[in-house]
Amino acid sequence: MRAPTRVPAQGLPEQVTIYEVGARDGLQNEAAIVPVEVKAELLARLADAGLRTIEATSFVHPKWVPQLADADELLATYAPVAGVRYPVLVPNERGLARAIAAGVADIAIFASATETFAQRNLNRTLESQFAMFEPVVAQAREHAMTVRGYVSMCFGDPWEGQVAIEQVVRVGKRLLDLGCAQLSLGDTIGVATAGHVTALLSAFAGAGVDASVLAVHFHDTYGQALANTLAALRAGITTVDASAGGLGGCPYAKNATGNLATEDLVWLLDGLDIETGVDLDKLVATSVWMARQLGRPSPSRVVRALAG
Ligand code: HMG
Ligand code: MG
Repeated sequence: MRAPTRVPAQGLPEQVTIYEVGARDGLQNEAAIVPVEVKAELLARLADAGLRTIEATSFVHPKWVPQLADADELLATYAPVAGVRYPVLVPNERGLARAIAAGVADIAIFASATETFAQRNLNRTLESQFAMFEPVVAQAREHAMTVRGYVSMCFGDPWEGQVAIEQVVRVGKRLLDLGCAQLSLGDTIGVATAGHVTALLSAFAGAGVDASVLAVHFHDTYGQALANTLAALRAGITTVDASAGGLGGCPYAKNATGNLATEDLVWLLDGLDIETGVDLDKLVATSVWMARQLGRPSPSRVVRALAG
C-alpha cells in the first residue's frame, strides 16, 4: 500500500502549507560539504515534488556554517520555478546585503528564547539579538521582502533545561513587533510533547497572536514530532516546517537531530485528507537520491517503507 486511506477528522484545517527546510536546516548539519550542483538539483527536485516554499540556504558567516558557505553561488546558479518561494536565513545586515545582491524575495531571521543559545548561535546576548535584527527587518521591508522570525529553544534548552512559556511568548512578540510576518516556533532539540505544544499555542493566542501567523518547527529527536504536529493542527496551525527525508539539526545546539521528515508529515496529512499539493512518491524518490549523495539512509520511516 503506497498511500494511506483518506479519512478526514473534525476540527482540522482543509489545507496545510509545508515549509520545506531540508536544503537549509538539513544540509547545515551534514559533516560532508555537499557540492553546489547537488544542492541546486535538490531544490529542483523538491519543487518538482510539489513543495511551494523551499528554504534554500543561509547567508550566515561562512566560518560558522561552512556547509552553506556557497549560498551566493547557489542562488546564482539554481533554476527557480515560477510560483515557488525560496526564503533564506539572514542573521544581520551583512547577510541581508548578500541576500539583496542575490535577488532574494523572502528572508528569515532567527532568534533564541534562551540566553545561552543566543550566545552560542548568534554571538549575542538574548537582549542584544534584537538590536541585530531590527535594521535587518526594517531594510528588508523597505525592499518589499517578507520576513519570517524563528524562535529557537521554545520547549527546552540543552544547557538551561526548561524554558518558560512566557519567555517564548515575550521573544516571539518582540519579533512580531519588529515587523515579522510569521513566527516559526522551533523545538530545536526535539524535546516537546503534545500538551506542551497546546499550552504554548494557547499562550500565544492569549497574548493576541493569531494561529494564522504562527508556524511550528519540530525536530524529531524523541520521536514526538508527528504527535506534536497533530496537537498544533488542532490549535489552528496551518504552516508546518519539515525536511525531506528527515535531514537536519543545528550545529550549535547539542542533541539536535533531524527535523520532522516531510514524507512522514505528508503521510499524516494525506491520511487526514488535508491538502498539501505534494506528490509523496516524487518526494520519496528525492530523499532516496539525496541519501545516496550523503552515503547514508534516510531516518524517515515513510521513506524507508516506500523506498523499496
Ligand atoms: P560575529 O562573529 O559576532 O560577527 O557572528 P560580527 O558581526 O562580529 O562580524 C565579524 C566578521 O564576520 C566581519 O568580517 C563581518 O563582515 C563578517 P570582518 O570585518 O572581521 O572581516 N560577517 C559576515 N560575513 C558573511 N555573512 C554574514 C556575516 N556576518 C558577519 N552574514 C553571526 C555573528 C550572526 C554572523 C554568526 O554568529 C553566525 O553566522 N551565526 C549563524 C549560526 C547559524 O547559522 N546557526 C544555524 C541556523 S539557526 C537554526 O538552525 C535553528 C532553526 O532551524 C530553528 C530551530 O530549529 O529552532 C532556524
Ligand atoms: Mg531547526
